[in-house]
Amino acid sequence: MSKNIIKTWCLRLLPVLFFFIVFVTYYHFPAVLQRCISNRKPLNNSKSLCGGWQTQKKWESLNFNISRQTQLFLQLEDFFWRERLSKLTLPYGLKGSEQMLLKVLAMTKSYEVPAQIKKLECRTCVVIGNGFAIKNSSLGSTINKYDVVIRLNDAPVRGYESDVGNKTTMRFFYPESASYDPTKHNERDTLMVLVPFKQQDLRWLKEILYNEKRVRKGFWKPPPQIWQGDVSKIRVLDPHFLWQTAGTLLHIPLDPKSKQNPVHPTTGILAVFVALNYCDVVHIAGFGYPDSRSYRQPIHYYGYETMKSMKNSYHDVNHEAETLKRLEESGAISFLHQRL
Ligand SMILES: *[C@@H]1O[C@H](CO)[C@@H](O)[C@H](O)[C@H]1NC(C)=O
Ligand SMILES: *[C@@H]1O[C@H](CO)[C@@H](O)[C@H](O)[C@H]1NC(C)=O
Ligand SMILES: *[C@@H]1O[C@H](CO)[C@@H](O)[C@H](O)[C@H]1NC(C)=O
Ligand SMILES: *[C@@H]1O[C@H](CO)[C@@H](O)[C@H](O)[C@H]1NC(C)=O
Repeated sequence: MSKNIIKTWCLRLLPVLFFFIVFVTYYHFPAVLQRCISNRKPLNNSKSLCGGWQTQKKWESLNFNISRQTQLFLQLEDFFWRERLSKLTLPYGLKGSEQMLLKVLAMTKSYEVPAQIKKLECRTCVVIGNGFAIKNSSLGSTINKYDVVIRLNDAPVRGYESDVGNKTTMRFFYPESASYDPTKHNERDTLMVLVPFKQQDLRWLKEILYNEKRVRKGFWKPPPQIWQGDVSKIRVLDPHFLWQTAGTLLHIPLDPKSKQNPVHPTTGILAVFVALNYCDVVHIAGFGYPDSRSYRQPIHYYGYETMKSMKNSYHDVNHEAETLKRLEESGAISFLHQRL
């Protein structure tokens, strides 16, 4: 064949080759693209907060000098061999409460966070305080986007959805702050997390779980005598967290022999500390009290309580506010609205 013939054939084949390439690309490119995209996790709105966040590093930068603990709740199977639990009495340890706890945990049977949250590579959490600051904030839909929404005590949701959202992953409470019908302001799957401050708190739960005679003594406010919650959603927070919130985060002297009234962390700062252990992103809203001199200023986003009711409390709210500020400045938490 002469060079000319080869040249002509080549020229004729070129368009065919061209079409072939276009054809292959056209049919296979979307599949390739699809594979590339589906290899990456779909980014949800709150997930965009996760970028570049290295939880362990953040934790270490807080200089707590303790390791993070992501097992939040007490489990029947492991509390007997955990020696440290028996060194302190409640609220910071379980000395003397073991039998009561054994009965409670034997009845509740579940000790974990739901699997779909546990398996997340990056957990975004928001802790909703009950403070007046969240009123009219319109944060409801933002709050609902977090993987974990932690609420406190008996704070209502119905009627306040536009400001506080309506998702509740966990609710931290103690008997005096329990509501007799937990279904009203929670979801079906909400974990009801008992924070045991004293032995009576475990006794209260045991009496309800086993429908035993209720002992009313030992509470600063009468707790509900009936409790219509789902037993499988009850969890008991490991006292480790309250102990470390008091000692490591707030530096409260933990000497039990001290004659002074005990100062204990609020459920709010405790929940923030738990979130720092468990979550990759920690945001908070509804924290902060008004100036202690403004006695008429409401303190909650619901109801009519004022600073007056805080006068004789076992909490040091100013010290807690400073601690939150410090955590914010170090980048460990952020406020969803302006800090009070
Ligand atoms: C993103 O959100 C959708 C629905 O809102 C959910 O099905 C999916 O699991 C979420 N993805 C991640 C990675 O959380
Ligand atoms: C950290 O803890 C260890 C043991 O608990 C102790 O020896 C050490 O002094 C602590 N470091 C700081 C900076 O507190
Ligand atoms: C919240 O909004 C309502 C209606 O717009 C208004 O009447 C009320 O004063 C606001 N409360 C606060 C605390 O801003
Ligand atoms: C929360 O509110 C949204 C929108 O109003 C609604 O679709 C959803 O069912 C509510 N969820 C719960 C648990 O009440």
